[in-house]
Order: sequence, then structure tokens, then C-alpha cells
Amino acid sequence: MKILVTGGAGYIGSHTIIDILEQTNHEVVSIDNFSNSEPATFDRIAEITGKRVKNYDIDLTKYATLKREFFNQVGKIDGIIHFAALKAVGESVEKPVKYYQNNLNGLINLLKCVEKYNIKHFIFSSSCTVYGNAKEQPVTEDTPTQIPESPYGYTKLVGEKILSDFAKTKHGFKGLSLRYFNPVGAHISGVNGELPKGRPNNLVPVVTQFASGWIDRLVVHGNDYNTPDGTAIRDYIHVSDIAHAHVLAVEYLDKHDTEKNYDVFNLGSGTGVSVLEVIKAFEAESGERLNYTIGPRRAGDVEKIFANNRKAVDALGWIPKYTINDAIRSAWKWQQHLNTLKRDGKVLHG
Ligand code: UD1
Repeated sequence: MKILVTGGAGYIGSHTIIDILEQTNHEVVSIDNFSNSEPATFDRIAEITGKRVKNYDIDLTKYATLKREFFNQVGKIDGIIHFAALKAVGESVEKPVKYYQNNLNGLINLLKCVEKYNIKHFIFSSSCTVYGNAKEQPVTEDTPTQIPESPYGYTKLVGEKILSDFAKTKHGFKGLSLRYFNPVGAHISGVNGELPKGRPNNLVPVVTQFASGWIDRLVVHGNDYNTPDGTAIRDYIHVSDIAHAHVLAVEYLDKHDTEKNYDVFNLGSGTGVSVLEVIKAFEAESGERLNYTIGPRRAGDVEKIFANNRKAVDALGWIPKYTINDAIRSAWKWQQHLNTLKRDGKVLHG
């Protein structure tokens, strides 16, 4: 099969490309405009897999360019895994139009191309944010979704709806939404990992960059939640486990003759871990002490969310193999790799 990965230079996209190249014979092409990533990611993928992936630097919101410079050039595409999107929750509150414009137009343009070029499979990167502040934990795919607090979250909920409505209309097409919980960690080699532009927002890169002196504060956002240690609980899942679920999802869409042409899966570990437990796990794995402070709750954060992942385990044959400690160890290895690159004067956008 020939698979298009959008956002191939991004965090989950790059790990998914690595897994496809290592585990299958599928051909991969990428579209990434490096809005929150860098071309060097493709060197890292080549270093790990020995294979170089061709990337097209195209903005998905430009439909004419997308057709002219990609779909009219590359030949038959069998499936699309669509990661490319903006994902900073706080920024989306400040710049809602930017998020709706980018995330929704990108998706819609790709689906227009699915129609025009008769592409059979589509996998959409969704998020556990669609469950909002769910009363019952763990959440299953049947837990009702809620109106998300942030425009970012809304683009995921609406994105799912657009894909499911589209799937109803198109015979022979199959779409999946994969709801990621909190992807963390780096490739086991420590050569590829998360490198957001500017100051990171997500907990694990904040922790590893703080421990390396790249940023000067580590603030725990709230310790007055109704949880055992008072800090918020999330379901942290190794990015390579998330990546592998995509390989299984492609296989599932190809092989299984499901009567449904649209479905949704939770991708989480099934275990809830608090912010302080992440910090303690980092201290144990790295031997570093983190001089963190406790701050107020962060706007829009939920108290607790973790997944029931039974559906993905049963239907896709997905077995997450890494623990939170494995994830933290690999993220720390990646951070040390970045520290070396920085010391050697290599330009990093992080
Ligand atoms: C959020 C979104 C998720 C999205 C992801 C992408 C929600 C509910 N979740 O995840 O859908 O895919 O961003 O970026 O909107 N924390 C600190 N200090 C820090 C950073 C984080 O205490 O410096 C805490 C947060 O308050 C939270 C936990 O760590 O309790 C995890 O935060 P983060 O890594 O940002 O992920 P989410 O907010 O869960």
C-alpha cells in the first residue's frame, strides 16, 4: 500500500512513519509544512530506519496547491493518516479562528481529495479531550462526548463528525477516529522525540527541558483536585505504542470486512497517573531532583481522565508494551541527545 502521512515531521507522525517503515512493506509519503516541526526529523527517521521518506512542504488549507503539487504528482494513494494540525490548547483560546481555519480546512481539503482521487482509507487524529470532564472513569468509546472548552478540542469533536458524516456517503470508504490520551516518551533509541517550537506546554517536555536548564520554572498546575495526591490525573501512553496502533489500524481497515465504514477507538494505557507521580517517576529514572513549585489550576484542565482501551485491544490486536517509566526514560534520553546537539552548536528550533 502507499500511505500518505500528514504531519510526518511532527511528534506522533514521525514515530508512526518509523513504525510503518520498520514493521511493514508499505510505501510512505509525507506532507508537512514544518509549522511546528523541522526538516531534520526526516534525517532522524532515516538514521533509525535506514530509509528516507519524501516530504511535500504543502499547506493543507490550500486546496489547489494540494491537488497540483501532491495528488496529481504521486500516483495512487491507498490510505491517509492525518496528523497535521495545531494542538496548543491555550493558544487556541487566544486565536480561535487560526485553529478552526487550519484544523478544519485541512481536514476538509483532504476529504475532498479522498473523493476526487478515490482513496479508500482515512485515519483521523482525535483526542480524549472530546470526553471533557467525564463523570465516569475510565472512559469508553460509548461515554458521551461533551462540548470541549477550547477551540482546539472543538476542532477534534467537529473533525470526528465531519469524517463520520463523510463516511456515510461514500461506498467502499472506511474512516477511523483514534482518540489519543496523553502521548509521551521518545523512540527507544533516543534519536527521535518531541520538540515543539517555543516553550513547551505539555508536562513531559516541560519536565525534561526544566531538568536541563532550558526553561527556568516547573509549575504543577493545581494540587487541590479531588485525587489521592491532589494533582490532576491523566493517561500517559508511550508515543511508540500510539504509533504502532496506526499500523494495526491500517491493517484493520484493509483486511477486516466490517459492515461499519466508520469507527472510533481510544488509545490510552488504561492507567491514571497524577502530575506528582510523573515528576517522581522522572526523578527515579534520571537521578535528578526537580525543584518544582505548586501553582493554581490551569484554565480548561479536567481533574481526571483515563481510558478503557478494551475496544482497541480486541479489534486491532493492540497491546501497549511500554510503561510510564519506559516513556520517561526514553524522553530523558532524547532530551540528552538534544542537549548534545545544542552544545555542539546545532540549531534546534526548540
Ligand atoms: C491537552 C489536551 C489534549 C491534547 C494535548 C495536546 C485537554 C483536556 N487535553 O492534554 O486533548 O491532545 O493537550 O497538547 O484539553 N501540567 C503541569 N505543569 C506543566 C504542564 C502540565 O502541572 O508545566 C499538568 C497539566 O495541568 C495536566 C497534566 O500536567 O494536569 C498534563 O498536561 P499536558 O501534558 O499539557 O496535557 P493535557 O492538558 O492533558
